[in-house]
Amino acid sequence: MRINKIACIGAGYVGGPTMSVIAQKNPHIQVTVVDLNVDRINAWNDENLEKLPVYEPGLDAVVGEARGRNLFFSTDVDQAISDADMIFISVNTPTKTYGKGKGQAADLKFIELCARQIADVATSSKVIVEKSTIPVRTAATIKSILDHTGKGLQFQVLSNPEFLAEGTAIQDLHHPDRILIGGEDQSAIKALKSIYEAWVPSERIITTNLWSSELSKLVANAFLAQRVSSINSISELCEATGANVEEVANAIGQDTRIGSKFLKASVGFGGSCFQKDLLNLVYIARSYNLNEVADYWDQVIKINDHQKTRFAEKIIQSMYNTVNGKKIAFLGWAFKKNTNDTRESAAIYVADHLLEERAQINVFDPKVQEHQIYKDLKELNTRSASENSELLTVMDDPYKACQAAHGIAILTEWDEFNDYDWKRIKDNMKKPAFVFDGRKLLDRKKLEDLGFVYYAIGE
Ligand code: UDX
Ligand code: UDX
Repeated sequence: MRINKIACIGAGYVGGPTMSVIAQKNPHIQVTVVDLNVDRINAWNDENLEKLPVYEPGLDAVVGEARGRNLFFSTDVDQAISDADMIFISVNTPTKTYGKGKGQAADLKFIELCARQIADVATSSKVIVEKSTIPVRTAATIKSILDHTGKGLQFQVLSNPEFLAEGTAIQDLHHPDRILIGGEDQSAIKALKSIYEAWVPSERIITTNLWSSELSKLVANAFLAQRVSSINSISELCEATGANVEEVANAIGQDTRIGSKFLKASVGFGGSCFQKDLLNLVYIARSYNLNEVADYWDQVIKINDHQKTRFAEKIIQSMYNTVNGKKIAFLGWAFKKNTNDTRESAAIYVADHLLEERAQINVFDPKVQEHQIYKDLKELNTRSASENSELLTVMDDPYKACQAAHGIAILTEWDEFNDYDWKRIKDNMKKPAFVFDGRKLLDRKKLEDLGFVYYAIGE
C-alpha cells in the first residue's frame, strides 16, 4: 500500500500542527488539511505567518517550509476526501451538552458526520485514521458506517492518538516519546508507520489492537491529570502545615519510580483534554457498572475544581473578605504558557467566582484576544454579556492592567511576567499591594523586598 495523498479533516490545534510536520518530513506526500470553518482556513493560508490561527513556537517555520509545496489548507472537504489514500479525522469531540451522558460522555456527532461524508464521497478504498480522542470502540462505529456504502470499497480504520502538548507541539511532534498505532490490517498499519518513520526511530512506534490504542489515549491523559491533582491536593496540606509544596515535589520527584515531571502545583489544570477525557473515562467505567473505578477517577476532577475555587477564595479572604468594587489584575488567561488556547483555563473559573463577588477585573494575556475572553465567560452563562463587560476589562498592556489595582493574580506562567518592572507596578497599585501567584512563577523574596504581600500556592 503506497500513500501519495493524505487528507485531514479538522484544522485545529491538533490537525494543523500534526499535518504540518507530516508534510514537512514527507515532501513526496501531498497533505491537504480541510475544515468547515472558512475563517480558520483563511488564517492558515495567510501570507503573514504570525496570523496562523494556532500559536505554537516553531509552527510558523514548519508551515513556511511546507505550505504550497506539499501542504495545503482548504475548505473543499469533498475534493480532499475523494483524492486521498489516507484520511485523518481530527475534528473536536466535546463533552455532550444534552441527552444521555450530558456533561460526561464525548459527543461523537462530528466524527460520525465525517464518516458519513467519507462514505458518500469516496470512489476508491482508503485508510481512515482516528486522530481525535474518542471513547473506546468508536472505530467500530466508523467502520460500520463505511462498510455500508454499497459501493464495494474497502476501508481500514486505524487509531493513532496524538500525545502532543500545546505550547510544545512542534518539539513534541519532532521528538515524540512514542507513536501509537492501533489496528488490525497489517498493510494499513505498515503504511501509516512508514509515514512516521520518515523521522521517528522505528522502535518508538508502538502497535496495538484498536481498543488498546483508543483507551491508552484516555488513560495517558487521566494519569497526567492525576499527578497534577495529587500534587495540588498536597499543596493545600502544605499551606496548612508549613511545608512547602515545591520542596515536597522536589524531594519525591528524585525517586526515579515517581519521576520529577508533572509535579508542579498550580491553580488547577485546564486545556481541551484533561477534564474531557477524565469525564469520558468516568462515563465509560460507569456504563460498564464499574462504580468504584468511576469514583476513583472522578475524584481527580473534584480536586481540580476545588483548587480553582480555593484560589479564588484565598484572594477574597486575604483582601479582608470582600472584593466588591476592588480592582484585581489578572496576568494570564491561557490554560498554560506559549499557547493562545483558553479552553477550560483555570482563569475563566477564578474570574467567574470573583465576578460573582462584584470584583472589577482587568485582564492581560500576551496571546489571548479580547473577544475570546468574553466568549469564555459567556459560555459559563453565569451573568449577561453586558454585566461581564461592565465588570471585566481586557487590556493590551500589563502595566495599565495593574494600574491602581488592589491585587494581582497570576493565572498563566508566561515567562515575560518575571521580567516586568515590579517596582513600577507596586508604586502604581493600591496598598497593601497583594500578589496571588497561582503558578509559583515569581520570586517571593524579590516581591516581599519590594513590599508586596505575596501568596503562592502550596507555601
Ligand atoms: C483535538 C482533538 O482532535 C480532540 O479529539 C482532542 O480531544 C482535543 O483536541 P483540537 O484540534 O484541539 O481537537 O480541536 P479544535 O481546535 O476545535 O479543531 C477541530 C476543528 O475541526 C475545528 O477547526 C472545526 O471547525 C473542525 N471541524 C469540526 C470540521 O472541520 N468538521 C466538523 O464536522 C467538525
Ligand atoms: C495534554 C497532554 O499532555 C498531551 O499529551 C495530550 O495530547 C493533550 O493533553 P495539554 O493539555 O496541551 O496536553 O498540556 P499539558 O502540558 O498536559 O498541561 C495541561 C494542564 O496541566 C495545564 O493547565 C498545565 O498548566 C497544567 N499542569 C501541567 C500543571 O498544573 N502542573 C504540571 O506539573 C503540569
